[in-house]
Amino acid sequence: MVEKASTLLMFGATGDLARRMLLPSLYGLDSDGLLPADLRIIGTARTELGDEAFRERADAALKEHLPQGFYSEGIAKRFLGRLHYVPLDIKDQSGFDRLAKRIGDPCHGVAIFLSTAPSLFKPTIDGLAGAGLACPTVRMALEKPLGSDLESSREINDSVAGAFPEDRTFRIDHYLGKETVQNLLALRFANSMFEPLWNATHIDHVQITVAETIGLEGRGDYYDQAGALRDMVQNHMLQLLALVAMEPPADFNSTAVRDEKVKVLHALRAITSADVEANSVTGQYLRGAIDGEPVPGYAEEVGHESTTETFVALKAHIDNWRWKGVPFYLRTGKRMPMRDTEIFIQFRDVPYSIFASRGATTKPNKLIIGVQPEETISLHLMAKTPGLDRQGVRLREIPLDIGLANAFSEYRRRIAYERLLLDLIEGDPTLFVRRDEVEAQWGWIDRIRAAWTEKGLTPRPYAAGTWGPSAAIALTERDGISWHE
Ligand code: BG6
Repeated sequence: MVEKASTLLMFGATGDLARRMLLPSLYGLDSDGLLPADLRIIGTARTELGDEAFRERADAALKEHLPQGFYSEGIAKRFLGRLHYVPLDIKDQSGFDRLAKRIGDPCHGVAIFLSTAPSLFKPTIDGLAGAGLACPTVRMALEKPLGSDLESSREINDSVAGAFPEDRTFRIDHYLGKETVQNLLALRFANSMFEPLWNATHIDHVQITVAETIGLEGRGDYYDQAGALRDMVQNHMLQLLALVAMEPPADFNSTAVRDEKVKVLHALRAITSADVEANSVTGQYLRGAIDGEPVPGYAEEVGHESTTETFVALKAHIDNWRWKGVPFYLRTGKRMPMRDTEIFIQFRDVPYSIFASRGATTKPNKLIIGVQPEETISLHLMAKTPGLDRQGVRLREIPLDIGLANAFSEYRRRIAYERLLLDLIEGDPTLFVRRDEVEAQWGWIDRIRAAWTEKGLTPRPYAAGTWGPSAAIALTERDGISWHE
């Protein structure tokens, strides 16, 4: 049986992710009584701090980032009591030895969360191993970016594998912690009505959009090296695509689910220099306005001219029986007009309309799964417009809408990391990304980047607050399809 962690060791404990997401998530779990009673959380980073100073910082982070009304003095007191801090310079082995001493028995119940720059992964793992902290029971969670291409991702994976075997390596993609993303599996595999239609015979195309209104948020150094393809498509969007497209797993367990996802990733048709212009569009935002407020252009924000893409649209194909000939259009960008993550499934039209002779046209059904900001499922159906039909039958498309927030109003909306941290503490890897998935993702992305380089393609400008360059509209319009907005 997998042992629950009694020590959670957080690298990068003074960083942005810890303040905005990890500490509030752990607090949320604690407030619901879900953390093991004896769980200690040991934060570590370079900053010289003692336990008390770390607790004060954590308290400030909770007050700033927890949803309004959720902070309670009593729970915070209990939660902060779990926190400890050990300063550590990753280049200095003595810090790791101090850490090991503080942990006491590293071979029982230790889970590690690494959210540092990937260049520090290897020295951190070496340091942990050197201090005896890589025992056969310790689990290791890794936050993205896990490399910048297939080769660097393999290097990271190899160095992790030297100390932590795959079944104890938990690669995080926080989209998998989102409730609606998991709900995709429930929608597909806990209902009998969708699966028979979930294939090329009945589905015309799929669109996946991840639109953000934010710009760089102070992460210019990282983002300018990454760009939208590596920052969003390589991980989150390909995971969404895999969940939409995978075959039914035999069971809801980590091996079966991930086996099916990786098959989809391997079946993605490579986009090469021969077709990259027809199948991809990149963009970079210029200054513009969002919600009526002026915002600077990318070059201004990052502080120099750059060829990094802040928008990417792709037309992808999955070469297997189920999806033969069904395009998957993916699009993501920063400084879009609204925050919107959704999966749009366009079904095919009825094979023959009995209403055509009465002047009515039908529209094909659509299923729209809203991931954020609202969690929704909307099924668009054709219905008869009320009336006596003296001028012919009139049909109209009407949505069958489910707002998950209303349907489950008794449940608190959780941060995606709550689920992932709890699964890490309890040792369930189902919602973490396996090495073969990450490498298949990078392999596909690398081909696209190589094709852009070979063709000398650079991002087209778009005004902040718009849906990207007009070429992105042409990408779908060429196929007679419009982006769903
Ligand atoms: C991160 C990216 O992985 O996901 C960010 O690095 C992006 O650039 C973020 O803003 C989006 O996450 P969410 O949960 O807000 O959609």
